[in-house]
Amino acid sequence: MKHLIAPSLLAADFAKMESQIEIINKSEADWLHLDIMDGVFVPNISFGIPVIKSLRPHIDKPFDVHLMIVEPDKFIKDFKEAGADLLNVHYEACTHLHRTIDAIKKEGMQAGVTLNPHTPVFLLEEIINEVDLVLLMSVNPGFGGQKFIDNTYKKLADLKNLIERKSSRALIQVDGGVTIANAQQLINAGADVLVAGSAVFNAPNPIDAVHELKHFLPSPPPSK
Ligand code: DX5
Ligand code: ZN
Repeated sequence: MKHLIAPSLLAADFAKMESQIEIINKSEADWLHLDIMDGVFVPNISFGIPVIKSLRPHIDKPFDVHLMIVEPDKFIKDFKEAGADLLNVHYEACTHLHRTIDAIKKEGMQAGVTLNPHTPVFLLEEIINEVDLVLLMSVNPGFGGQKFIDNTYKKLADLKNLIERKSSRALIQVDGGVTIANAQQLINAGADVLVAGSAVFNAPNPIDAVHELKHFLPSPPPSK
């Protein structure tokens, strides 16, 4: 499978939403990654359900919603109604993860589970056959533009191993500090989906940046 690119809206210019929507639609982005932060699970607040709902009619790509919130179960139906296609919950936020994953699937969404950088992959042993996707956080969640944590490569190897051993069909997603400098290495290490926020929206040309991430093209040298 060709790898997928999911630009994260968190790094977009919210004052120019129309042009940002155009970038997403015109680019080779496969999914749109939407970061929901509640100021409790993570030390930051982003945007919520009404924003997803108002974007939905304007973007014809799957919405990959990354919930960085406590008690995600309370909002599963609301995110479905707002237009989420894939709902990602944090392992660390779910006491009854099996029930949460089941509830997401019953709403007709794809279900993902996310691991913080400190959470080991072996904890997914009993849920890996239930989820559609595992998201490995390669930064501590809460902010865009942070430095990639190198231990992610070790976790990618562990996860690939677990998926193969258990014949799971889960996709592997990596989120945080992804750039054109590490994209190819991440895919070679087993990632299927790369989330990129600042590497896309802070680039001089975000549509080109998505193209480069999709085809591993090095950025042209800066003109003098
Ligand atoms: C961080 C978010 C990421 C963030 C990535 O908590 O989950 O999706 O937007 O941003 P970059 O790509 O800039 O590290
Ligand atoms: Zn995210």
